[in-house]
Amino acid sequence: MRTPPHEVHFVAPARVNLLGEHTDYTGGLVLPMAIPFTTRAAISTPTDDCYHFASDLFPGTLTLTRGDRSLAHKQWTDYPVGVLRELQKLGIDPPPFSLHLSGNVPFGAGVSSSASVEVATAFALLAHAGKTLPLEEIALLCQRAENIFVHSPCGIMDQFAITAAHVGHALLLNTRDLTYEHLPMNTGKLAETCIVVCNSMVRHSVATGEYGKRRAESEQGQAVLLQTFPELRDLGDATLVQLENARDLMSPESYRRCRHLISDNGRVREARTAMFAGDPVAFGLLMLAGHASERDDFECSCEEVDFLVETASALPGCFGARLTGGGFGGCTVNLVERTHAEEFSAALRSAYKENFNINPDTFVCEAVDGAFARNANLYSEA
Ligand code: GLA
Repeated sequence: MRTPPHEVHFVAPARVNLLGEHTDYTGGLVLPMAIPFTTRAAISTPTDDCYHFASDLFPGTLTLTRGDRSLAHKQWTDYPVGVLRELQKLGIDPPPFSLHLSGNVPFGAGVSSSASVEVATAFALLAHAGKTLPLEEIALLCQRAENIFVHSPCGIMDQFAITAAHVGHALLLNTRDLTYEHLPMNTGKLAETCIVVCNSMVRHSVATGEYGKRRAESEQGQAVLLQTFPELRDLGDATLVQLENARDLMSPESYRRCRHLISDNGRVREARTAMFAGDPVAFGLLMLAGHASERDDFECSCEEVDFLVETASALPGCFGARLTGGGFGGCTVNLVERTHAEEFSAALRSAYKENFNINPDTFVCEAVDGAFARNANLYSEA
């Protein structure tokens, strides 16, 4: 592996999740795909002995000495510095660098701009240090950067999808053991569909705290289930019947969170079958059921997103729609017949504008490669 003498660029996409939401911190299944937004990490060797962080996406720059081990600075640089720290913990100490981040991933929209920054940074720093790591390790170290350095209690879905995704495929990931399967999106009638992403442009300020709260409620419910049924490893194994039997032992919130998580794991399994059968009707119904479950049981939707889902599902060519990502605003994903995509997007935008006086963004997306495939030539070059 070479150490880049000049500026070298590494890229990472964004992601949307098609099904299996919030399941990634209780051993469940997720079904994300990478979408064509890009974070670009340019790395070069500076004239001094420091680490430099800059970006045209965010204000402010940061310079650290190589021995610096300071805590988070509560600014955008925490994401790339968190990645550096995790590499250092693994004994990987990159030579001095200037890292510059750019790109077009929308922020705060639930398409995982932070994981995109982390993964692009990880590829750049690894190459600069002349090291390689398996893709699972890259995803995990980026998650640790976010959990430990940024103090955001996210699961593994975003970093894993952004690293491991394949063009034309969704990624079925079992978050218990990180086994995964690339599921084709071009079988049967599914080949005639695309994913329309719609950004509600709403980010409720409760988002950060509520994520941790939902996570705690889910984990409390999981703990009760594991105590009641010792054969269970996590919610990934649990059934709705077991949940009913343990209902009285947990809070009503934990019960509802677990009902969403267990039923969403089931929907991901059914979605896999629908994908191999090339059946967009079945897939779309699962998306709608997933949304209802997030809205009513997990309670992570909001009025604007519910409106988008309801409106979309009545439009011609739409098989299904749902909230994607952490929730409380952000984006919806819509499974739409490709020939209807433009007309669908325009109709959805205009209904939303009329109702909320907000102009939403819509993007017609196909699944793209994750960072591992996209940086392969630079990453593995000897
Ligand atoms: C955020 C987190 C993920 C996952 C989703 C919800 O995107 O970063 O780990 O929990 O929310 O599915």
